[in-house]
Amino acid sequence: MEPTVWSRNSARSDNGEIAIAGVKAGDLVAEFGTPVYVVDEADAIARATEIKNSFDSAFAQIGTSVKVYYAGKAFLCTEVARWMTTVGLNVDVASAGEMAVALAAGVDASRLGFHGNNKSVAEIDRAVRVGIGPIVIDSAIEIERIAAAAARHNTVQRVRLRINSGVHASTHEYLATAREDQKFGIPLTEAEAMVAQIRSHPSLDFVGIHSHIGSQIFDTAGFAEAARRLLELHARLSAVAPVPELNLGGGFGIAYTSVDEALPVAELAKSLASIVDAECSRLGIDVPLIAIEPGRSIIGPSTTTLYTAGTIKDVLVEGEAVRKYVSVDGGMSDNLRPALYAAEYSARIANRVSDVAPELVRIAGKHCEAGDIVVRAEYLPGDVSHDDIIAVPATGAYGWAMSNNYNYIARPPVVAVRDAKARIIVRGESEEDLLSRDAGITLSGDSE
Ligand code: LLP
Repeated sequence: MEPTVWSRNSARSDNGEIAIAGVKAGDLVAEFGTPVYVVDEADAIARATEIKNSFDSAFAQIGTSVKVYYAGKAFLCTEVARWMTTVGLNVDVASAGEMAVALAAGVDASRLGFHGNNKSVAEIDRAVRVGIGPIVIDSAIEIERIAAAAARHNTVQRVRLRINSGVHASTHEYLATAREDQKFGIPLTEAEAMVAQIRSHPSLDFVGIHSHIGSQIFDTAGFAEAARRLLELHARLSAVAPVPELNLGGGFGIAYTSVDEALPVAELAKSLASIVDAECSRLGIDVPLIAIEPGRSIIGPSTTTLYTAGTIKDVLVEGEAVRKYVSVDGGMSDNLRPALYAAEYSARIANRVSDVAPELVRIAGKHCEAGDIVVRAEYLPGDVSHDDIIAVPATGAYGWAMSNNYNYIARPPVVAVRDAKARIIVRGESEEDLLSRDAGITLSGDSE
């Protein structure tokens, strides 16, 4: 079990079973069934704390402070929202639904940031009404819509402006959000006119610019270049009127397999702080307050999905080599990332160890789709068999969050484990849940 990939409190126990925070895979499966997402609660909280502490201390060295927003889109439920805010993070939401979850968790609305390239008028109105923190403006029309909502509710709304820095982050095309030809943000060249438009509204308080260059990024060069471009704009805007903050977004990569090398957060924080410091001195401006929005790097490594192996086939590939297909009882409904981004994952048999020589296997799901792959390539003991528990680590970010009901498969529960205890934090769907929105069905209480 590669320590960079598994949650910190995961280990083989004496009988060979994988245990997470002291709860054995077999016990989790006996109680909750499969598939099940198992969140190592202490791991998620520790990563949130470490990011906050690393950025706080790196930026304190250059005389400023940092606000960390947990990007709720990675995985949000009331329990996770509370874990984050308890250790001092704020929460970013990207829809009225995410906002509702954070508010239901008791998070003070002023600690929420609000994102989205197409927020509806109703979403904006509700956000302003509940007293949300900064709304990140993503288009010209939003300036007028937010200003009108704030005037209607007799308040002054804090806003940021999302800039498309034009930085090409080295990640999957769909995960890069600051290239020229995509929907997010305002080009650098249009930013000053837009900020002037924002500043013309007494019901808006412009707090600063924002940039998010993409997700699952390992290379600091992209973050560095974006910070440089943003600070140049920040300096020009500050020459007109004070701009208190600069938001550098999220996107820090994590290890999904043993070949991924994620940058330690302390190093990332130090290198970003030194770039911000150097650029501010070069531009002759004060160092602004900094905001960041990590999602994946906090919640991604905390979670392991447990499946049960079903059918196993040795498939002849190109007339000679055999590829062993191990099908599990979930797939693209609980983890869309391999199908959507060709994302790589790793896996282990969780209920036992084996001396049998490893074989290259592909772990497939149970959906009616050939691209329904859970793990494209992994070595598992050659005696992998039906009824083995298959554990796939690092599924905490954009796993449950992008889960779906393809083939009418119910979404699995999310179980938090801590100090050898397990509890459901999001219940799984039942067959009744699956049928409940079909207007042609009258549920009699017995769906058989
Ligand atoms: N801030 C903004 C404005 C974002 O759009 C995102 C992610 C984040 C922060 C958090 O990024 P993170 O630290 O989690 O990388 N579904 C894709 C990822 C989409 C990311 C969307 N925005 C995936 O599964 O890889």
